[in-house]
Amino acid sequence: MCGIVGYIGEKPATAVLLDGLQKLEYRGYDSSGIAVLDHSHHLHISKRSGKIQNLVKSIHQFHWPQSCYIGIGHTRWATHGQPTDENAHPHLDCSGTIAVVHNGIIENYHELKQHLQKQGHIFKSQTDTEVLVHLLEAEARHNAWPQAVGEALKKVRGTYSLVILNQKDPHHLIGVRKGGGGLVIGMGKQAMFIASDVSALLGHTHQVFYLDDGEMIILEKQAYQVMDWETQKLRLKQLLTIEWTPQQAEKGGYAHFMLKEIMEQSKAMEDTLRGRIDAAGNTQLVELSKINLKFLKTFHRIVILACGTSYYAGLVGKFIFEDILKIPVEIDYASEFRYRDPVVDAHDLVLAISQSGETVDTLVAIREAKSKKSKTMAICNVLGSSITREADAVLLTRAGPEIGVASTKAFTTQVAAIWLLALELARLRRTPTVSRRLQMGRHLLKMPIYIEQTLQALRKTIKPLAQRFSRYDHFLYLGRGINYPIALEGALKLKEISYIHAEGYPAGEMKHGPIALIDSQFPVVVLALKSSRYYEKIISNIEQVRARSGPVIGILEKNDSLGQQKVNFFIEIPTIEESFSPMISILPLQLLAYEIAVILGREIDQPRNLAKSVTVE
Ligand code: F6R
Repeated sequence: MCGIVGYIGEKPATAVLLDGLQKLEYRGYDSSGIAVLDHSHHLHISKRSGKIQNLVKSIHQFHWPQSCYIGIGHTRWATHGQPTDENAHPHLDCSGTIAVVHNGIIENYHELKQHLQKQGHIFKSQTDTEVLVHLLEAEARHNAWPQAVGEALKKVRGTYSLVILNQKDPHHLIGVRKGGGGLVIGMGKQAMFIASDVSALLGHTHQVFYLDDGEMIILEKQAYQVMDWETQKLRLKQLLTIEWTPQQAEKGGYAHFMLKEIMEQSKAMEDTLRGRIDAAGNTQLVELSKINLKFLKTFHRIVILACGTSYYAGLVGKFIFEDILKIPVEIDYASEFRYRDPVVDAHDLVLAISQSGETVDTLVAIREAKSKKSKTMAICNVLGSSITREADAVLLTRAGPEIGVASTKAFTTQVAAIWLLALELARLRRTPTVSRRLQMGRHLLKMPIYIEQTLQALRKTIKPLAQRFSRYDHFLYLGRGINYPIALEGALKLKEISYIHAEGYPAGEMKHGPIALIDSQFPVVVLALKSSRYYEKIISNIEQVRARSGPVIGILEKNDSLGQQKVNFFIEIPTIEESFSPMISILPLQLLAYEIAVILGREIDQPRNLAKSVTVE
């Protein structure tokens, strides 16, 4: 999704902005641009379609001033209008004095544009964003700055985050947020930063706060003022300390962020578990103290809401919660839940799962659940993100920054967090038996070691298999029970980064349709774990595929001689209690997708059309 960065301070603004844009690349984009003011308050702008390198080149080619102290930058992920130079942000008003960068969608842009055109405003792009800057120009003719901003925004419908630079107000940047993507403010020494997410600020500051819905900020070099943009009422903000380091957001010698993030899953899980479970297997989640104890002991149902990979982690969670707590668990795509009139109430715990904490569908779904009096909780990776600010309680995964667009370590740590939550609720609700609960807790504690050993072994074995299978056009992934979500997630990983069509299916459903697709050109990846209660049934499914000449890649436990006979190719993983196996069985599927994408020469960390956090509806 679009990325925003703004800076005011004593360092050369161009370098700070370009660095910030590079850090935001991972969000997904197709053009970029910056606008700065030099010390004589002249406005300079450059914008280019394609990679940030194109922008950097264009800046070097022109007479770009060295001494800029304030500016805004943007990476655009096209929604309205093609990814061209003209459609890239920042957008300028007719007089070339106001520049705007925007993330979100202006719903009534068509009628606003017609109205502004009638007034003589000349539009240069096909974007919805450009109406904002002309509206600001129109309102600034009748109102003082920055009141003109509030007046302009009263005419706008939609969700947006924007940052405004005005040549006539050369010592301030203005940021506004209404729904949609987040805006984080960083406080540096003699400098202020504003950005779509903290990764753009790493290396500059650890002291941040986030703008809430409906807030406007006026930034100066050493001061700021936050207010409700409609009422102009001042708001106080609480500073957060971000512990992520700039090194965590670098590749650290790996060819891609995705590979680095796959390989650091053991550490990410260790961090997620640290301090929350003791060696005996007892959990203690202080995070739950935000929710009334009586409710935690008595609520009737868990409703899980999430999108994409986080949804699949939630699907694993359904198996875990139901198995341990013996209460009903429902799971819904946040994008579906929010548009119905969902039946949830004060007896439900609604659990949102999101790596970024900014996925707008999940955010709005949480609000919907709150409006129906449900208690809400979030499993999230980004401290201070929108979802963490709106949920009643938050359990942070401590995976560190996830930069690769394809989610990997976020998934395994989300499953670990679900386990922690399940064990804590089990403790409070006294079910199942204490010994079973502690046994599961101790098992959870061993996961980082299992993950590390598995990854080390897999790195050597997956490549030749990827070589053998990289030229197929379609794949089917099958799993049963708690490994059925892993089939879905494995297929998602392959399609996202290699652009190969892949379907995930519960294996038992294959005979109800997808079996029609099977032939010698349709490889099937089957999660067939010997110690699973479904093993025999999965072996029958494998037979059905083989009988139709489908090549089968089995994900098998070590020394499974029967499994090895039944499949054409296999990848071995250690034997592990079935309810913990998703945290291991996903690893070969992540690596298989990665290695195939490498062979095909794909842009692994920024696959086409995808955005890291989806902040538009
Ligand atoms: C897949 C992927 C997406 C995200 C989804 C939700 O690899 O990254 O499917 O999982 O967009 O994002 P979050 O978890 O940030 O809400």
